[in-house]
Amino acid sequence: MQLKNVCLKFSTFLCLICCAFSQSNFNNEAYLNKSLNEITWLTAHNSHLNVFDNVVLEIASNQNLSLDKQLYYGVRGFMLDIDLLQCSKLRSLFGSCSCEGVCLCHGSCSKSHDNIKDGFLVKKLEYALKKFVKFLNKNPNEIITLFLENYVADTKILQNVFDRVKHFNQLVFNPYSPEWDVLRKGWPKIKEMIASNKRILIFDDEKKADHAGKAPGFIRSRDFLLENHFGWHNDFIDVNLSNFKQIKNLYNSSSIKMEISRCVSLHRTMGQLNWSENKTLDLNFREHENSLLNSEKMFLFHHYYGVSAKSIFIDSLTVKLMNTPEFVNERLKRRCNPGINGKKPNYIALDFINENTYKDLILPFNI
Ligand SMILES: *[C@@H]1O[C@H](CO)[C@@H](O)[C@H](O)[C@H]1NC(C)=O
Ligand SMILES: *[C@@H]1O[C@H](CO)[C@@H](O)[C@H](O)[C@H]1NC(C)=O
Ligand SMILES: *[C@@H]1O[C@H](CO)[C@@H](O)[C@H](O)[C@H]1NC(C)=O
Ligand SMILES: *[C@@H]1O[C@H](CO)[C@@H](O)[C@H](O)[C@H]1NC(C)=O
Ligand SMILES: *[C@@H]1O[C@H](CO)[C@@H](O)[C@H](O)[C@H]1NC(C)=O
Ligand SMILES: *[C@@H]1O[C@H](CO)[C@@H](O)[C@H](O)[C@H]1NC(C)=O
Repeated sequence: MQLKNVCLKFSTFLCLICCAFSQSNFNNEAYLNKSLNEITWLTAHNSHLNVFDNVVLEIASNQNLSLDKQLYYGVRGFMLDIDLLQCSKLRSLFGSCSCEGVCLCHGSCSKSHDNIKDGFLVKKLEYALKKFVKFLNKNPNEIITLFLENYVADTKILQNVFDRVKHFNQLVFNPYSPEWDVLRKGWPKIKEMIASNKRILIFDDEKKADHAGKAPGFIRSRDFLLENHFGWHNDFIDVNLSNFKQIKNLYNSSSIKMEISRCVSLHRTMGQLNWSENKTLDLNFREHENSLLNSEKMFLFHHYYGVSAKSIFIDSLTVKLMNTPEFVNERLKRRCNPGINGKKPNYIALDFINENTYKDLILPFNI
């Protein structure tokens, strides 16, 4: 893939969302000269839960493109749920256990995987990692970020998986290493990461254990990221559709009542990270010595319903509307900005990333 294509796409996405770049001044050098935290990356929520990879029923999936196609579509952030799956002898005997070891599940699945929730052909973590490595080897200017919802308690088991994937470890960016020391030096530029070939970031939510520092590359999410809660809160407001260029023709009225959820911090148990529309985040605050200043943290914007069974709960038009840059922007402006102090998102996480009316905006490349 040509870097130029990706950059142009990012730039269009960015222009609409945060006006960080304009199409005319965006070029390779501008991209390479940016710091990692100055870019907005398209991110797929539960990227493995699609009918192709984990073979999830369509009504239970979060994505409608395979991981391979997501890559070519421009997705650079991948949210993956992982757990250590141990199959019973009985299940193994009857072949009803498609994955054993560190597997890509939907949430936790340590005892057994569930066909409806996790898919009929649950894949190993390696399966996805190999795809990312292959892509990065082919595209030397690209960077990929993983967000792990991580139910694995033993760091060593994870490290063993990484060790088995050829070239994976050497691509992992370790922000805690003396060389990068992001806590003191801030995020590096894209070109610096490319020059040293450190092009995979691994954010870990530590559901079961604290892996940061125990294996190179695990980044403790809450110390480096701001995140809004992914839950929606039944917050319906009137949305004026007249500015929604391509979507408005799909509706019969100029304004609709639409659920457009408030933004509250995901890390609500952390006193100072407890931002909401009633409590503005203090950008100059540092939670503790191993955490970035809030202003330097990247912002992972969760923007999906988080429920499966899309065709039951959420109609396709609603998903299309949600995924428009206008809607993303509207929610950021009206709902998130008061709490997160106007911080721009670095990762925009969506369900059904290809469900949008902007075929020219997020075009699949030579699939
Ligand atoms: C690169 O970024 C720095 C700021 O980090 C800026 O001073 C410089 O002009 C930029 N160079 C180019 C070629 O854009
Ligand atoms: C997934 O894509 C296929 C083919 O484009 C389409 O027929 C189907 O409706 C899509 N499903 C969802 C859930 O978007
Ligand atoms: C919707 O937005 C358009 C364009 O900004 C404006 O002209 C119109 O008055 C708005 N409608 C309502 C009901 O606010
Ligand atoms: C718009 O109106 C047409 C005709 O009445 C109807 O078939 C369609 O479902 C409506 N669309 C929406 C989004 O309500
Ligand atoms: C966070 O804010 C919520 C709502 O404002 C409040 O109920 C909760 O007690 C707060 N938690 C902490 C740790 O301050
Ligand atoms: C913010 O305050 C309003 C009005 O008091 C209240 O309805 C809402 O629940 C509060 N939000 C949070 C996140 O606590």
